[in-house]
Formats: sequence, C-alpha cells, structure tokens
Amino acid sequence: MSQRTCLSVILAAGEGTRMKSAVPKVLHPIAGLPMVAHVVKAAEAAGSGDLALVIGHGADEMRKATQKFAPKAEIFVQDKRLGTAHAVLAARDAISKGYDDILVMFGDTPLIDPEVLVAARLKLAEGAAVVVVGFRTSNPSGYGRLIEKGGKLIAIREEKDCTDEETKITLCNGGLMAVAGKHALTLLDQVGNNNAKREYYLTDIVEIAGGQGLDVIAAEAGFENVLGINNRAELAAAEGIWQGRRRREAMLSGVTLIAPETVYFSYDTEIGADTIVEPNVWFGPGVTIATGAKIHAFSHIEGATIASNCDVGPYARLRPGSDLRQKAKVGNFCEVKQAVIEEGAKVNHLTYIGDARVGAGANIGAGTITCNYDGYSKFFTDIGEGAFVGSNSSLVAPVTIGKGGYVASGSVITESVPDDGLAFGRARQRTLPGKGKELRERFASAAAARKKG
Ligand code: UD1
Ligand code: MG
Repeated sequence: MSQRTCLSVILAAGEGTRMKSAVPKVLHPIAGLPMVAHVVKAAEAAGSGDLALVIGHGADEMRKATQKFAPKAEIFVQDKRLGTAHAVLAARDAISKGYDDILVMFGDTPLIDPEVLVAARLKLAEGAAVVVVGFRTSNPSGYGRLIEKGGKLIAIREEKDCTDEETKITLCNGGLMAVAGKHALTLLDQVGNNNAKREYYLTDIVEIAGGQGLDVIAAEAGFENVLGINNRAELAAAEGIWQGRRRREAMLSGVTLIAPETVYFSYDTEIGADTIVEPNVWFGPGVTIATGAKIHAFSHIEGATIASNCDVGPYARLRPGSDLRQKAKVGNFCEVKQAVIEEGAKVNHLTYIGDARVGAGANIGAGTITCNYDGYSKFFTDIGEGAFVGSNSSLVAPVTIGKGGYVASGSVITESVPDDGLAFGRARQRTLPGKGKELRERFASAAAARKKG
C-alpha cells in the first residue's frame, strides 16, 4: 500500500459558533495541539503525505496556525458553506493532480486513530471505490444513517431526510470517507442539493457510486474515532479521552503513574521507563524525561528536558529552557527557566533560577534568587561546579560564582566571586547585650501611657 499515493482533504470551513469563541473551532487545543493538527498527524501516520485543508471562517488565523503544524498543506478557501461535497470540491485542484486514495476527514474530529485510516485505504487497494467509516450508537440523533442492503452500503441518509423507519437505524456515518482517486471528481461533480437543507452532501456519492456499479462499503470503527467537537463540553470530553489513552500508553511503556487520572500530558511529552509521576502533575508542551526520574506531586513542567534519575518537586515549576542533567534536584516551590542544572546539582527549596547555569554538584540554598531582569533586559548568572550559595541570597545578574565559590547566607551578590572565593554581601551584624530587654520595657510603658490618655 505504501506505493499508493494519498491525499487527505480536511474540512474545516465551519464556523463553530457553539464554541462561543473568537478562535476558529479547529484551532482549539487538545493536549496542547490544535484539534485539526491531531487530524493532520493521524493522516500523516496513515501514510498520507499530501494534505489539502479547506477553510472558511478565520482564514488568516488558520493560515498562520497551519504554518506551524502542517507547513506543506495546501490551503483552499470555501467562500460559501454549501455543504460537505461542495467543501471537498474546493480542493479540486489538489484532487485533480491524480491520487490513488483520497481521504476526507473533518477538522473537528481529532481522535481519529490512524489505524482506521489505514484500514480504509486497504479497502480501496482491494478495489472499493468508496469506503465510509461508520459507528454504532444507541443515540444516533443528528447523524447520517448508513443504509445497507445485502451487505452493501447503498446510501447515507441525513437525519432530516430519513423516513421513520430509517431513523431507527443505529449504524451512523462518522463523517470519514476514503474515495478512490480515479472516481473522486466524477462522483463529486454529480452531487446535487435536492434535500432538506439544500446542501451538497458528500454522503450522496455513496448512492451515486452504487448506481454506477462501483463497490461501496462501510467500515465500522469505535465511536471515539469519529467524535466531533462542537462545544467546550465536548472539547473537554475529547481531552479526557486523549489523556486516558496517553496515560495508559505511558504506564504500559514502564512509567508509574500513582494516580493516572490526575496527570496531564501534552501531545509531545516523552517520558522514559521507571520514571515515577506522583499525583497532580501537569506536562505542558516540549517536555522530555529520561528514565528513572521522580516527578513529585503538584509540579508544573513545560519546555523542559529532564535527564535520568532527576528529582523534581513537589510543587516545582519548570519553565521552557529548563535543562536538568543527571541526578539534578529541583525541590519544593522552586522555579527554573532557561537554565541548565548540571549533574547532581541541588536547588532544593523556594528558589528562582532563571537565565543561568548551575554547575555540577553545586548547592543552592533556600530562597536564593537569580535577579535576571532589570525591567528591560535579561542577564545571565553562571554558578560554577561545586559552588555553595547560602540561603536567601540574591545573585544580581550578570554575575559569576566561580567553581567552588561560597556565598554567605543573605548576600546580595553584585560582583563576581572567583573560584574558591568566599563572598559576604550583607551588612555586618551588631549585637547589643541587654538592649533587647530595655527596648521591650520602653515599648511597654509607652503603650500603657497611650491606653490611659
Ligand atoms: C456530517 C455528515 C453526517 C455524519 C456527521 C458526522 C454530511 C452531509 N453529513 O453531518 O452524515 O453523520 O457529519 O459528524 O456530510 N464543512 C465545511 N463546509 C461546508 C459544510 C461542512 O467545511 O460547507 C465541514 C465542517 O466544518 C465540519 C464538517 O465539514 O468539519 C462536517 O460538517 P457538519 O456541518 O458538522 O456536518 P454534519 O451535519 O454534522
Ligand atoms: Mg457535525
């Protein structure tokens, strides 16, 4: 099958009014990736190299977004929304290039499993002219019904055009179709709009193809595959299904999730075996974790690389550009951004490390802050191998703490510390014996006088 050429036509011209959003519906994300990009990924995974995206509403925004997830996709604008067949024909120029297989998918059906697409393409390879992906449901309302006769699919009837008898059919059109490229345009060009909605229905090609003696079949798939998103509740439901699949995949690949239903992955999270993820952890886009790491509860991690056997959290926030090398530790209430924490270094409590390097084996005391921003520009802090930064220190960047350097607690470091140097950046302590008691007595009598008066 790999020799067969394939074009995927993804329909995304709908307005998506029920999302009640300024953002086009298909750009709403699932696991951090626009839902239409999930469809693109599935098409690609099914070996469909070429993509045609049919857009209408929010064209500028769609073009811009498409650059990111499908830079090679050809974009077609359907000016008037006259139905799904009309929408597919907006991509006529792409279809007429001549492909073996044409897949038609909806941009708002993000959970499609590539296997379903592969299976549909196989049917085309075996000689079918049209393959319709259907599903069974006890609540078919709103869907087109698949009408079969003698094992053949003879028509798809939209609900509004169904007879009472036909409405009872529970095998529905999922919306996804595979069409033999050599017949696609001929079939589509014969579709009319003589129906309840006065639309050009893609589904009509089933009857047209059958009438010409072509082979038309239905292929059943699980409902999730064809779950369409129309509002935010359905968006959340799809997110839930996606997360469920991903959690299972993670666990089966050797990751321990103590409370899987509380861990959220992104579309691109990579996580190695023997990593343990405690409850309530969020992985934003761009996270890679090697093996044997521990991600403690309530950590928020995005754009981060975590090497093997690192220890993160609880309550850690790793922002983009965080790069933890082997056995590094970032503990509770610490934030790291654009910084390398080298092998075995420890950033244990209440610390902000931004635009910095923390050398191997260095120890950063509680409450240490890299002051990386002056309100206009960002500056770098370089902390050498084996350095020790005492608690509650402010490192005012740009600044360097040399290898083995030692910073006394409570320091404000504005000048670089040489290798093995010791820096005190704080006022010297003055201790006055007996003065504490004296002060207390003075305050007490002043308070008593105020009460009387
Ligand atoms: C469609 C199917 C129906 C199926 C259901 C599954 C047709 C005629 N009906 O109905 O059999 O059960 O999906 O969810 O195909 N679109 C355009 N331009 C248009 C019209 C639609 O781009 O002119 C796009 C929409 O953005 C959407 C997709 O095509 O992504 C489907 O359109 P929609 O209006 O949701 O079709 P349904 O009535 O749900
Ligand atoms: Mg729909």
